[in-house]
Amino acid sequence: MNLNKPELEGTAHLLDELDKKLMVLLRDGRTLIASTNLRTWSYIRLSRGYMWVNEYGDIPRGVFIVRGENVVLLGEIDIEKEDDLPLTEVSVDDILDAQRKEQELKQEKQRLLSKALKERGILQRCKKTVFRIAKLIPPIREKIEAELETISKNFEDEVEERTKHLTYVTSLPENRLSKEEILNKLNQNLNLGEYDWKSGLVSGAVYYFSQDLIDIISEVYGKTSYTNPLHADLFPGLCKMEAEVVRIAASLFHGDEKACGTMTSGGTESILMVCKAYRDYAREVKGIKRPEMVVPTTVHSAFDKAAQYLKIRVRSVQLDPETCQVNIKAFRRAINCNTVMLVGSAPNFPYGTMDDISAISELGLRYNIPVHVDSCLGGFLTCFMEDAGYPVPLCDFRLPGVTSISADTHKYGFSSSVILYRHPKYRHHQYTVTTDWPGGVYGSPTVGGSRSGGNIAVCWATLLNFGREGYVTATRDIIHTTRYIEKGLRRMKGIFIFGQPATSVVAIGSNDFQVYRLSSALKELGWNLNVLQFPSGIHICITHMHTQPGVADRFLKDVRDSLGEILKDPSIPVEGKMAIYGVAQQLPDRSIVGDFTRRFLDSMYYIPKRNNK
Ligand SMILES: Cc1ncc(COP(=O)(O)O)c(C=O)c1O
Repeated sequence: MNLNKPELEGTAHLLDELDKKLMVLLRDGRTLIASTNLRTWSYIRLSRGYMWVNEYGDIPRGVFIVRGENVVLLGEIDIEKEDDLPLTEVSVDDILDAQRKEQELKQEKQRLLSKALKERGILQRCKKTVFRIAKLIPPIREKIEAELETISKNFEDEVEERTKHLTYVTSLPENRLSKEEILNKLNQNLNLGEYDWKSGLVSGAVYYFSQDLIDIISEVYGKTSYTNPLHADLFPGLCKMEAEVVRIAASLFHGDEKACGTMTSGGTESILMVCKAYRDYAREVKGIKRPEMVVPTTVHSAFDKAAQYLKIRVRSVQLDPETCQVNIKAFRRAINCNTVMLVGSAPNFPYGTMDDISAISELGLRYNIPVHVDSCLGGFLTCFMEDAGYPVPLCDFRLPGVTSISADTHKYGFSSSVILYRHPKYRHHQYTVTTDWPGGVYGSPTVGGSRSGGNIAVCWATLLNFGREGYVTATRDIIHTTRYIEKGLRRMKGIFIFGQPATSVVAIGSNDFQVYRLSSALKELGWNLNVLQFPSGIHICITHMHTQPGVADRFLKDVRDSLGEILKDPSIPVEGKMAIYGVAQQLPDRSIVGDFTRRFLDSMYYIPKRNNK
């Protein structure tokens, strides 16, 4: 390595005390910015090489530029005396020595990190094993079973309480019921539930409610419920409508004429399908037999579901705690020769933040790995936001590395879901084809076989009924309301907002009190928000229901009033049902949380033992 005379002379100026950013003005007119907010020797990649920053404690002492084999000393800097920055030379030996030290330090850090991870892994595994073995010990097993039975009983009691004024139909009625009797029972069932979602007191769940639209889709479903798109020869019109839905969606996400896809029953099925497509593509084209996907920790749990169904290993990458976007450096490090797909959310469910899709797209191109953008939640907002006056970063096929997008027409598109691919070669691997079945050659594009064509027709009719203008207006109203709520919340003491909400989800946390207390307080006032964990938080997903006059102001007032009460004594722990979320996060054995959840799912099918008919 050669040390040149300092041809790149210049001066360094402290730009930002907090971030310890330096601006280096070179004599030849160029400017470099270097962050020195690092404890030890480190380098920062710049467009034209590397800049080395030598720090002792907090004081950066020298800045060097390494270009190829040449090292150029830029200056020795004492940030205490930023006006007087002498440019002095250092010897090659100094630099090499420093590099060696840095290397040693890096190795030491890596050794410590892998030791810590190993120990943590060992600790986790030990804990898991201890719990697994402990659960086999009869008295402990009995105790756990007894606890789970109590939990089941509590869930069942809730069902009993909720439905105590109704009877259950538990066998076929001997004689057919009349239309009136059926509609009567239907209404009784629909009226169950304590939350007033029609007044906009619920996060997400119902994205749009309009009697006009309901009238149209009721008629459309009525005309198409009996159709079965599995039989394309019998119902070619249904295939035509599905093709049109896919084409409309592909255009909205800026796909070219090769872009293609299928409709599915919902976001989870779209995700399941894209994971299958990429797993099978990678096996056939690249010979990958142990497939892995790299995803942010915030990616929807449907990816875990797909991974469990399809035997794909999930590499979850941590977020940048400030932005709540996936940490791109860590994301890159998680890629290996078994990676079959990279995933980013636009936006994610928990915080509503959008990952840096452009950076993920570049990684996809660099390593030749397909990139999926999960826009299930916000896709039918992001593609209208620019026209609605709220531009968002690129997150569709305009980014060359993006190879697929999932977007739920049943959320802001208000009916079912689509999975889109940049190229048909991926969609081919989504299909399931069996050629040797005695029942005939069988091919199906998605999970379902026979299914009602009604869902296709309803989605198609909804898209046509809104039209571009309808979606832009709905998007404008939803984003305007979200920004209004976000702004109001940011002004309140005792809470903070996670990252920068990209579309319609605003997530709230607190450093001052247990944030689930806010959730409990709002529940008392009729609100139903989503609960987040690791770290604790709550979120509201703004839908068209919240754009009704007065809803946003009522929400802000209720949050403000609740905070007023809570902050009188921030130390009070959360009580009641919400306390369970807090406790669940502390449990090292996640299998208990899993058992608990299974009991809840069981309770959905529970039928009270009383005078049922
Ligand atoms: C970002 C994201 N992806 C996927 C899904 C899964 O969609 P679905 O519930 O329709 O299966 C959701 C659902 O909320 C979501 O928010």
